Amino acid sequence: MKQLHFGVDYYPEHWERGRWEEDAILMQEMGIQMVRMAEFSWHKLQPSEDVFDFGWLDEAIGLLGKYGIYTILGTPTAAPPAWMVNKHPQILPIDRMGRVRGFGGRHHDCQSNPIYREYIRKLVTKMAQHYGDNPYVIGWQPDNELGNSHQDLCTCECCRQRFQGWLQRKYKTVLALNQSWGTAFWSQEYNDFSEVFAPRVTVTGENPSAMLDWRRFCSDLIVDFTREQAEIIRKYAGKQFITHNYMGFADKVDYYKLGELLDFVSHDQYPGGFYLPEAPHEKNHVLAATLDVVRSYKDQPFWVMEQQSGITGWEVMGRAPAPGQLSAWAMQSIAHGADAVVFFRWRTCAMGTEQYWHGILPHSGNPGRRYQELQEFIQEVNPLMDSLQNTMPRAEAGIVFSFEQEYAFQIQPHHKDLSYTGQAQKYYRALYEQNIPVDFVPEQGDFGKYKLLLAPLQYLMSPELEDKFMDYVRQGGHLLLTMRTGVKDRNNLCMTERELPGRLSEAAGVEVLDYDCLRDASVKVLFAGQEHEAFIWSDLMRLLPQTEALAYYNSEFYAGEPCVTVHPYGEGRCYYVGTEPGESLMDALMKEICGKAGIEPLLAPAADVECMARENGRERYLFVINHSGEARHYQAPEKCRLLRGGQLGSLKAYEAQILAVGK
Ligand code: GAL
Ligand code: ZN
Repeated sequence: MKQLHFGVDYYPEHWERGRWEEDAILMQEMGIQMVRMAEFSWHKLQPSEDVFDFGWLDEAIGLLGKYGIYTILGTPTAAPPAWMVNKHPQILPIDRMGRVRGFGGRHHDCQSNPIYREYIRKLVTKMAQHYGDNPYVIGWQPDNELGNSHQDLCTCECCRQRFQGWLQRKYKTVLALNQSWGTAFWSQEYNDFSEVFAPRVTVTGENPSAMLDWRRFCSDLIVDFTREQAEIIRKYAGKQFITHNYMGFADKVDYYKLGELLDFVSHDQYPGGFYLPEAPHEKNHVLAATLDVVRSYKDQPFWVMEQQSGITGWEVMGRAPAPGQLSAWAMQSIAHGADAVVFFRWRTCAMGTEQYWHGILPHSGNPGRRYQELQEFIQEVNPLMDSLQNTMPRAEAGIVFSFEQEYAFQIQPHHKDLSYTGQAQKYYRALYEQNIPVDFVPEQGDFGKYKLLLAPLQYLMSPELEDKFMDYVRQGGHLLLTMRTGVKDRNNLCMTERELPGRLSEAAGVEVLDYDCLRDASVKVLFAGQEHEAFIWSDLMRLLPQTEALAYYNSEFYAGEPCVTVHPYGEGRCYYVGTEPGESLMDALMKEICGKAGIEPLLAPAADVECMARENGRERYLFVINHSGEARHYQAPEKCRLLRGGQLGSLKAYEAQILAVGK
């Protein structure tokens, strides 16, 4: 199949048929090669129990096909229709407050409900049989943003029973369950698996071990929900791909596990989302990290299935993207590993919740500034996309990222401002601002690829992970561990055999004997003769022989005690950071640590200029993106060719350049 790189999310069912052809022509003139359709149109496809109507969709697919535009089909299971919900109200989900959530939004479903599952099997089978051989249909997206809107769902009787079955398979005996959950505390023992609840909101705190299993169960449920659809699609439409639109760091489902079902991962990227901070400094690194974590879910290039194409908004709205900004954001996605970019959405919708989530075309349907900008962008960049095939960003630094750690910190954040993902992003920022590319790495990933591995907050520990970290350092890796490492076993029970960080103290060369949760205070830290601030937490530790203190606390009752350390271990080094470094300390530490690990920036840093590279064995493509509304300069590498952009070394407002650099 021909490589396709640019598309739009299209909702022909929102507009009169008379308009469809004009849309197809405008898309073709713009360079659009594909659309995603139908992911919310259950009622249009099955208006009542026994009536299926694919005619309108056939017509839309055929018409677009005539203009050279291919289709990715969403299964509409994120929007069960009213007739079904009325007939089977038990499909509606029940939240942790025990409230039934009503019809009228989307994702009003219980994913374990067998009646609902039966409806899904029937519809997806019919769709896959019908479209499996359609030459214009290239792929599938089961449901939409799975996990979205389900954060607090579902605790119905069906889900409860399914949870009990899940626990029984995991623990075999109720005795093992009781031990693993520590149910002796507050008389929570169960005599039988059938006594276990789906966790509703309690009057006091919750059992952290039970809550961790609940989060795992919820993630597995979504994977199973997707697997059922994927199997049907593979059976009847095996020539077409299956992907899913992820949401970056969203954590309801373990995206590594979900990825095993997919040919490739997709993601929805809204850099100007009205819910994000305004200040570029607060979000540029998060946007980049989001794309990098998406790439890590299958460790391969990905697609953006929804790339912002106008003002975002539901009840309130975000800022208007300035001229050039939509293109810069699309280029940022490509730079971090996107092989295709599908813009959300084609035309701003006149009705429903998303009337103000703007598309390429305004409400009027007349092409304007956004159409022109993206048309120019696609026509310029599309020819380059073919050379980017089979290239990937290559990072020498990795950040270990795990959904289980995220769950454990959500259950017990320790401090109101501590978040596992947030902590990973803080380390990421310091590397991002130095123009050092970063991979996120799952626990089961290949640590040996990286010169430097940052592993913040490795709270839940296992003997296998301890071994893996220690082997990595022994064989020459530079590992950074932090506060709250090795605290718990995988059942979320505190480990008691050793001082923290447990067995890892052999590599880290420290034993944490006490600690301080800083609440609203900060602590002063001395590093290389400079005073900095740190937050959230202070580990108070004893250094083992050969461990060197790099930084010291400079306030509180532990002023003068070590705060950051380094310990040689085998061929490598292990750093231990006992606090959350503020930005200046983080920057200084990361410069020092990257330098020691022999990691070079891609380019000398320049304010607001993002730099990223994709490469294969022969070529390196350097992306240089100006995120500011003013001109910026950067120091171009000596031997390079400008593939896209005005002038080597200088960037106009929001300009995004591509340079080919000889290897
Ligand atoms: C995404 C979702 C789309 C649309 C868009 C704008 O999260 O996948 O269906 O809702 O946001 O709100
Ligand atoms: Zn349920």
